[in-house]
Amino acid sequence: MHPFFTQLGHTVLARWKAENFSLTAFPAIARVALEENPPSEVVDIRELLRDFLLEDQQPFQTQSAFGQPELVVYDNPRFYIQLLFWLDGTTDIHQHMFSGAFHVLQGSSLHSRFAFEDAESISAHLRVGNLRVLDTQLLETGRTVEIVSGAGFVHSLFHLDSPSITVVVRTHTDPGTGPQFTYLPPHLAVDPFHADALTNRRKQILDVYEAIEDPEYEEIVSEMVAELDFERGFFILQNGVAHLQNLECWDAVWDIFAQKHGRLAPLVAPTLEEILRRDALVALRGYITEPEHRFFLALLLNVPGRPQILEMIAHRFPGPPEATMDRWLAELGDSNEEATLLLETYYGDVLGVGTE
Ligand SMILES: [Fe+2]
Repeated sequence: MHPFFTQLGHTVLARWKAENFSLTAFPAIARVALEENPPSEVVDIRELLRDFLLEDQQPFQTQSAFGQPELVVYDNPRFYIQLLFWLDGTTDIHQHMFSGAFHVLQGSSLHSRFAFEDAESISAHLRVGNLRVLDTQLLETGRTVEIVSGAGFVHSLFHLDSPSITVVVRTHTDPGTGPQFTYLPPHLAVDPFHADALTNRRKQILDVYEAIEDPEYEEIVSEMVAELDFERGFFILQNGVAHLQNLECWDAVWDIFAQKHGRLAPLVAPTLEEILRRDALVALRGYITEPEHRFFLALLLNVPGRPQILEMIAHRFPGPPEATMDRWLAELGDSNEEATLLLETYYGDVLGVGTE
């Protein structure tokens, strides 16, 4: 039990009780309590971890696989306080089934907020619409942000330092605010907790076809896409798009999907393109170790448009941001031929390279 978080929990509990446990009041109560007495200025994380490892008297720990890992530092039937450790940077664009506030205890993060406009439910687990970036900001250590459950607060956090640690003061689950959609820009929202075991197994079987280079792969995927509903057809395409492109039969399979799904199909093509772009950049980031280069790739992944990227660079590095970006591009190209090709293919417009 850490006395700081026990006290923080008691403070939040008393103030929320005074508001009759109103859900709409909770995010501000959580944020104000964190801002009045910022954990980033008070908590000795090494001491806290030592206590957690050696003392048996601890708050109830969840089975959650979120965070790397999650550690509960205060629990109550109404809400709890967790520490989330992050060793790598990527989190999805998502909404929440809980509310509260988070506080950057250690490290810094790129934080983007989004709106999902013209939203339409296709099934209980999939929506289409237009995802628009509202703003992107650099969250330094000590910053606190409210979390509101439901589709009104959609965000992504990209943690720039390793480990990054956030404190989250949060409800358990807010009724009626699910599913906790993950957004696939620019047009889809999917329920990551929907367990469609049949489709998952089918994707695994198709992965086996792919691994053994089975000659029937294109034919069977074409037949599936011709038969399946929009949601499951999309997941089969998502699973196979890279392999189908390598086999040079993507256009034929795509035509089958486009013909079957009419007005919905144009929403899928740019979404799959963005998935490929992000996958390639995340893979590249996996073996780039230079911190400045990793920051640059994080910007490309998370910040839309050249002006905003230059603004973020100027925020962190002295000198003209264009010169810094050009230097990073040259260094990345020198160290890795694949990096240059990838950046020119996917980010030429943003970077002003490969387009003359
Ligand atoms: Fe979140």
